Amino acid sequence: MKKPIVTAIVLAAGKGSRMRSNIQKQYMELKGYPVLYYSLKCFQESEVMDIILVVGEGEQEFCQRKIVEKYGFSKVSQIITGGKERYDSVYKGLLAADHADYVMIHDGARPFVNQAMIKVSIEQAEKYDFCTVGVPTKDTIKTVADDGMSEQTLDRSKLWNVQTPQTFLRSELIKAYDFMQQAKDTMITDDTMIVERYLQRQVKMVMGDYNNIKITTPEDIALAEFLLSRQ
Ligand code: CTP
Ligand code: MG
Repeated sequence: MKKPIVTAIVLAAGKGSRMRSNIQKQYMELKGYPVLYYSLKCFQESEVMDIILVVGEGEQEFCQRKIVEKYGFSKVSQIITGGKERYDSVYKGLLAADHADYVMIHDGARPFVNQAMIKVSIEQAEKYDFCTVGVPTKDTIKTVADDGMSEQTLDRSKLWNVQTPQTFLRSELIKAYDFMQQAKDTMITDDTMIVERYLQRQVKMVMGDYNNIKITTPEDIALAEFLLSRQ
């Protein structure tokens, strides 16, 4: 059988408002390299065929020169601009990946993606059409009402924290997005949710890594530097 084409879509078009920094978090430095460098390097060295990098308005040239050319990321085939919400950025990447059988969507703010995650994601996506990496939840999780009082405690043995990369059969994810757009649904936090809600399909969960954090708030920078210093 012909080997399917897998394209990574690396998202870096967010504003990083929770980081409260003057430089966007994807461009902040960790041990001398921008946050975005780490995931691009991992995809560059992986079996994905190419990488579509999704960045903010006006950032294309900066990324081309200061990241893609500077570090020799030859697999970056396109640098496109994203949209207002994360799902808008994903959708633009999805349309741009018109040569791909599978898309592997990844938060550029997660520098700790590794080769094992990419490999198992491709294997499982070929089997189940959709998969995401994640980790079993360590905390007890409750739902809480508007008045701050607990409602109920969810069964932790079934709870996972969802991470990226998330891998999808592209033709099916496009379908799911079409339905979501018709429904004008804006309560979407990731693409696995779109598949569940609009295709009524399940997504295979594969083990990620507790260290596969998303750089979100200022404490995460110190934590990421600590994790890198141990590698
Ligand atoms: N992202 C994107 N386009 C958007 C919003 C987010 O490409 N319109 C990307 C971010 O760059 C990040 C990933 O999606 O790599 C995960 O999003 P998040 O951690 O929420 O990043 P931001 O939206 O940038 O941060 P914040 O929510 O704090 O503003
Ligand atoms: Mg955000």
